[in-house]
Amino acid sequence: MATHLETLETPVPIVDLDRLTHNLDRMAAYATLHDLRLRPHVKTHKSTRIATEQLQRGAVGLTCATTRELEIMSEVCDDLLFAYPPVGAARLERLMRLPSSVRLTVAVDSAQSIPALAMAANLARRDVDVYVEVDLGMKRVGVTPEHSAVALARTVHTHAPLRFAGITFYPGHVRSRVEDQGDAVGALAQQVATLQELLLDAGLAPRVISGGSTPLAWRIHEVPGVTEVRPGTYVYNDRTTAGIGACDWEDCALTVLATVVSTAVPGQAVVDAGTKALAREPLRADGDGWASLLDRPEVVVTRMSEEHGVLDLSHTDWRPRVGDRVRLVPNHVCIVVQQFDEIVGIRGDYVETSWPVLARGRGAVDLQQDNAPRGPRAM
Ligand SMILES: Cc1ncc(COP(=O)(O)O)c(C=O)c1O
Repeated sequence: MATHLETLETPVPIVDLDRLTHNLDRMAAYATLHDLRLRPHVKTHKSTRIATEQLQRGAVGLTCATTRELEIMSEVCDDLLFAYPPVGAARLERLMRLPSSVRLTVAVDSAQSIPALAMAANLARRDVDVYVEVDLGMKRVGVTPEHSAVALARTVHTHAPLRFAGITFYPGHVRSRVEDQGDAVGALAQQVATLQELLLDAGLAPRVISGGSTPLAWRIHEVPGVTEVRPGTYVYNDRTTAGIGACDWEDCALTVLATVVSTAVPGQAVVDAGTKALAREPLRADGDGWASLLDRPEVVVTRMSEEHGVLDLSHTDWRPRVGDRVRLVPNHVCIVVQQFDEIVGIRGDYVETSWPVLARGRGAVDLQQDNAPRGPRAM
């Protein structure tokens, strides 16, 4: 017999399977339409099942931010990008232990990281493709100005078995509404064109220019030269993504199902989803609070403890009762997913399936490595 949502213990992340399919199809179609290689970032779902859905729809490979994600995704994909600085011996060792069948690409933004990466690749007898990471405005990682990118590409080129494969950037600074992104897109186009010219002059034509995020997902084709995109959030979407118009509210596929556990204090209702379910992530769009109800977006979680979320009832006539169920759209879905072991897939009000968040966490600490830093003595 099918399980009704009412019977699930809360809080629990639930995914509307029809919405998920729509989101996956829409991005795949966009990439195909504009001849862009889709290399989705797995940090949103951390699941081999969703990754497989993305690959079946034409994704050329996957993007990962942690070694754990790489290890888990190597079970379903043989073309992985590590979009994180490959710094530290233990991280390098874990990278090189990936199955040899995996074509590994690594993003670098420092000359210091290159000899160690090359040595690790040499020891592991594996070729490693390298993207040079440039900062086009986010100011997180990436070299700037463009001349440093050419110098770094040259350094990569002289460190076999590393192979300079291209340029990568993350336009995380572009978070305006989709219709207001024109100036930002124009600035990116100019920066990418300059970079391309300089690299071409240096005899280091990039095979790939990798960019893209969910907020900019629908306009990245307006940046000539970009060949690859790496959106992650689009599979589930969230309150921020809807708030900037990069998806419709009806495209929010993941909600946290919660139960009203208290109405004792007038003007509010308390649900069993606090920071350990919803995460204390700011809304990066107009509005406030930490999450809002799927069917009443005007009702917002305005305060949280670890296991309590306070719904402000001042903008609604709705008066929930203890035991009522609500579905919450979180501000930032990626942080919500990684707090749970399992995701429940629903169709209508019924559970159809579930899947594990396999790549959450970091994996077991490897104490066997010779080069592992010595921590405090075992007790
Ligand atoms: C390097 C990199 N690429 C791609 C993405 C995916 O972007 P989004 O979460 O907007 O889909 C991220 C997100 O953090 C990122 O850090």
